Amino acid sequence: MALILTKELHSPLTLLLLVSYSCIGLVQVGPIAVQAQGPLFTDSRWIVDGAGRRVKLACVNWPSHLQPMLAEGLSKQPADVIMKKIKSMGFNCVRFTWPLELVTNGSLASRTVNQSFQGLGLSQALAGIAANNSWAPDLTLIDAFKAMLARFQRNNVMIVLDNHLTVPGWCCQWSDGNGFFGDKFFDPNLWVNGLIKMARLATSFPNVIGMSLRNELRGPRSNVDDWYKYMQQGAEAVHTTNPNVLVILSGLNYDTDLSFLQNRSIHVSFARKLVFEVHWYSFSDGRRWTAGNLNDLCGNISSRVMARAGFLARKNLSPLFLSEFGVDGRGTNAGDNRYLPCILAMAATEDWDFAIWALQGSYYLREGVMDMEEFYGLLDDNWSNVRNLTLLTRLSSLQIPYRGLPLKRMHMILFHPQTGLCVTNGPPTRSLRLSSCRAAQAWMYGPQRFLQAEGTKSFLQAVGPQKPPRLAPSSTSQWDMVSNSGLHLSAKAMDGSTVCLDVDGKGLLITNACKCLQGDKSCDPTSQWFGLVQSNTV
Ligand SMILES: *[C@@H]1O[C@H](CO)[C@@H](O)[C@H](O)[C@H]1NC(C)=O
Ligand SMILES: *[C@@H]1O[C@H](CO)[C@@H](O)[C@H](O)[C@H]1NC(C)=O
Ligand SMILES: *[C@@H]1O[C@H](CO)[C@@H](O)[C@H](O)[C@H]1NC(C)=O
Ligand SMILES: *[C@@H]1O[C@H](CO)[C@@H](O)[C@H](O)[C@H]1NC(C)=O
Ligand SMILES: *[C@@H]1O[C@H](CO)[C@@H](O)[C@H](O)[C@H]1NC(C)=O
Ligand SMILES: *[C@@H]1O[C@H](CO)[C@@H](O)[C@H](O)[C@H]1NC(C)=O
Ligand SMILES: *[C@@H]1O[C@H](CO)[C@@H](O)[C@H](O)[C@H]1NC(C)=O
Repeated sequence: MALILTKELHSPLTLLLLVSYSCIGLVQVGPIAVQAQGPLFTDSRWIVDGAGRRVKLACVNWPSHLQPMLAEGLSKQPADVIMKKIKSMGFNCVRFTWPLELVTNGSLASRTVNQSFQGLGLSQALAGIAANNSWAPDLTLIDAFKAMLARFQRNNVMIVLDNHLTVPGWCCQWSDGNGFFGDKFFDPNLWVNGLIKMARLATSFPNVIGMSLRNELRGPRSNVDDWYKYMQQGAEAVHTTNPNVLVILSGLNYDTDLSFLQNRSIHVSFARKLVFEVHWYSFSDGRRWTAGNLNDLCGNISSRVMARAGFLARKNLSPLFLSEFGVDGRGTNAGDNRYLPCILAMAATEDWDFAIWALQGSYYLREGVMDMEEFYGLLDDNWSNVRNLTLLTRLSSLQIPYRGLPLKRMHMILFHPQTGLCVTNGPPTRSLRLSSCRAAQAWMYGPQRFLQAEGTKSFLQAVGPQKPPRLAPSSTSQWDMVSNSGLHLSAKAMDGSTVCLDVDGKGLLITNACKCLQGDKSCDPTSQWFGLVQSNTV
């Protein structure tokens, strides 16, 4: 089947304005109310549409860079069903990966999907593809890639094309020859040529709003001078070929380090299109997450991420795209479990654009294993159900654009990263409790450290341990951020004790003795973690 591009596909992209919330099981996750008129631009640290309105990228990673060179999962579900699922989970965008050889190796790219799968002994997956996506088997790999882009377009899903590596396969080892300019499989000229080809291809798909030039630079050849030299070349080449896309640049050391930008800025001939990306997993810090007091760890590691990458957005230098992070959805990885509330607090507070790793419940073939399950995938092995609804609820708190432009009428909301919920004071009970951040109570929090419910004369007042705090007409409680995480809100209660804000088993706000502010390595303080998030949108 040949792919025919119609006139409409070339017209400016209009993403649907989604107003209704969809219900997945018991979880209310709302598609993001974003009306994006592509192309997108940057405005200081924000990504905006042509009218200057903020567009928060809330993406999932969806790989198509492994050996078969086809978007994963097409043997399990029809592509359109998966795309609708992505939107029903509240995401507006996909970071879609591709191997350089898809556009630089004609003999690979001109294989059909059928040949690619048969050649790898994946006849069972091929049968699934034929059953679920009958359009795919006879297409060449490059045409199947284009057909996916066209389907994303029809489903109003924004795309960031990510050049993941050169040779199709699983990524990324320290010295696998794909890591840095000059490596065995990473010829800078070939790379620039490949980027130009992909940028040109993307001009037919206005929903491709960004191109991430290379995933996770790494390896023994890594150095800052070559980073500037080649990233500038790649950025100019992409922009010249396709001036519509955002140009997204990865840092060094597996995309965990952009600190060199503190002292030396990058020079490109164009404006309002550069975005930087950062990756942050629990294993980015080895086994540290299980080896200390969680407040100290979260404080220390967050500061390091700020110094290496977060400063870009904090100092309004550019948007920061947290383009990979994620956890094992089974909840069995102790490091992941400790890292998750910390990164959620950080990503919500900083209001970063993001892409979760990952969408896929499985791979056709990964590292020699057929139909390998991906426990970091949002979807289960069948690509039909959400693997862990509790986890999705927590992650969906990041889909909300907390700050919108212009940055006026700002207040604070209290974000609870352990649940991904926020403190609300709404119906039906009119009690202070956790509920969706879309309905968060707005607070004023000034130098006096009172928490005043916005637009009222009521202040949050601590009563005592195991008692709910109350809203009182004058405040005796000053709330301080204590512990190295900066996430404990502590006050002196009316009975004279020092307490921390907490939640009980029913999600009602209470105060309790502060948990393991320091020292204790095994205790979990996160029921008492609250991020003060600036917002003018909820
Ligand atoms: C193209 O891919 C094939 C199969 O992996 C490989 O043998 C060949 O060397 C590649 N050619 C180029 C130009 O990269
Ligand atoms: C793949 O191609 C072979 C011919 O080489 C054909 O017999 C087979 O039916 C094709 N499979 C699918 C699923 O299209
Ligand atoms: C998709 O493929 C799977 C086998 O991988 C099969 O169980 C399922 O019925 C197929 N779904 C459709 C809609 O064809
Ligand atoms: C930037 O320059 C300052 C002052 O010379 C230096 O202390 C700092 O280490 C540099 N930072 C980086 C990331 O190179
Ligand atoms: C946090 O950083 C401080 C100061 O660098 C250090 O003394 C402490 O051991 C670190 N704590 C943890 C848990 O990493
Ligand atoms: C979902 O993740 C939580 C931890 O975040 C875990 O306790 C729970 O068992 C997981 N549920 C499933 C179905 O894996
Ligand atoms: C996944 O699909 C297989 C085969 O269709 C089925 O046996 C299994 O029950 C499904 N698992 C889930 C969790 O839906």
